[in-house]
Amino acid sequence: LNQSSFTHLPVLFNELIAGLNLKTTSVVADCTAGGGGHLAAVMDIATRSECILALDRDPDAIAHLKTRFSDQIATGKLRLVQSPFSLLDKISAEFGLNGRFDAIFADLGVSSHQLDTASRGFSFSEDGPLDMRMSYDSKDQTAAELLNEASEEKLADIFFYFGDIRESRRLAREIARFRDAGNKYLRTSDLLNTSTKVLGPKKFGQSHPATRVFQALRIAVNHELDQVKALLDFGLELLAPGGRLAIISFHSLEDRLVKQKFSEFAGKRSDDDLPRELRVFQAPPIPKVKIIKPFPMSPSQTEIEQNSRSRSAKLRIIEKLETRGSNANQ
Ligand SMILES: C[S@@+](CC[C@H](N)C(=O)[O-])C[C@H]1O[C@@H](n2cnc3c(N)ncnc32)[C@H](O)[C@@H]1O
Repeated sequence: LNQSSFTHLPVLFNELIAGLNLKTTSVVADCTAGGGGHLAAVMDIATRSECILALDRDPDAIAHLKTRFSDQIATGKLRLVQSPFSLLDKISAEFGLNGRFDAIFADLGVSSHQLDTASRGFSFSEDGPLDMRMSYDSKDQTAAELLNEASEEKLADIFFYFGDIRESRRLAREIARFRDAGNKYLRTSDLLNTSTKVLGPKKFGQSHPATRVFQALRIAVNHELDQVKALLDFGLELLAPGGRLAIISFHSLEDRLVKQKFSEFAGKRSDDDLPRELRVFQAPPIPKVKIIKPFPMSPSQTEIEQNSRSRSAKLRIIEKLETRGSNANQ
């Protein structure tokens, strides 16, 4: 890895850092440390923290972070772990940190480094092997293997649900035809060719149709929605009372998962959206969190102009309520 080549502009930087409400002593987990942009700001504020834990599943990110934060790692203030954040509860249990975090945050999706490195296979702008694994040093299935092995039906579902592609069935059919003719998907250009055959080339003023094909496959290869679900399942338990959980998502499915879980934690019933007479009577659920802003935060026009990749970002934040146990009996 060429260290100087690791670039990633942190998105919603001020919004996230302010929203975490950090103190000098805050114990923090960065689930997706990437280039370390957000992490550096956290370390600048939480100068007297007992522990800041940073995860990333990408070996390139870990190598970069090791160099960038070598001093803080040496003093033990920063603990860097290469892992998917679905294991954060296990990792923090080992460090004795469960229930002690003042802030946990995740900035989902891919880094610019991943997108811009052709050998990672995330992008079709340059030809490369069809890998797409964030943890490319693992034994997980690559995008090429998935394309060559999955059923036509499964592929159609991936394109439909994760890529919002209306022609998902035709695309899956064309992939099956390519395979039936004895071909194998190996390179990003192979997938780009199939995509262009079915969805056409880029049209002026629109994003390239292959963008969503590649995005859908990437979400499937990295089990990205399962990762978010895991974090939402244990995140609240890891927080100290008054601690905050913040998630930046880039895909409507992710944001929906975050939104639903956060409103459930806030004690909103799932039938609250129905007219009053249609709601099933039940005791009001006890809120465990406060939602920091009713609407997700999005990047400003200036940020989008400076960094077009921030365009779909949405930030949601909750705060764990202080005295849940004693309130419950009042
Ligand atoms: C958008 S970047 C984060 C950028 C970072 N906040 C910064 O300021 O530089 C996303 C990073 O999260 C990592 N990542 C994505 N999903 C992950 C997961 N489930 N577990 C661990 N790391 C993940 C990716 O490898 C990538 O490096």
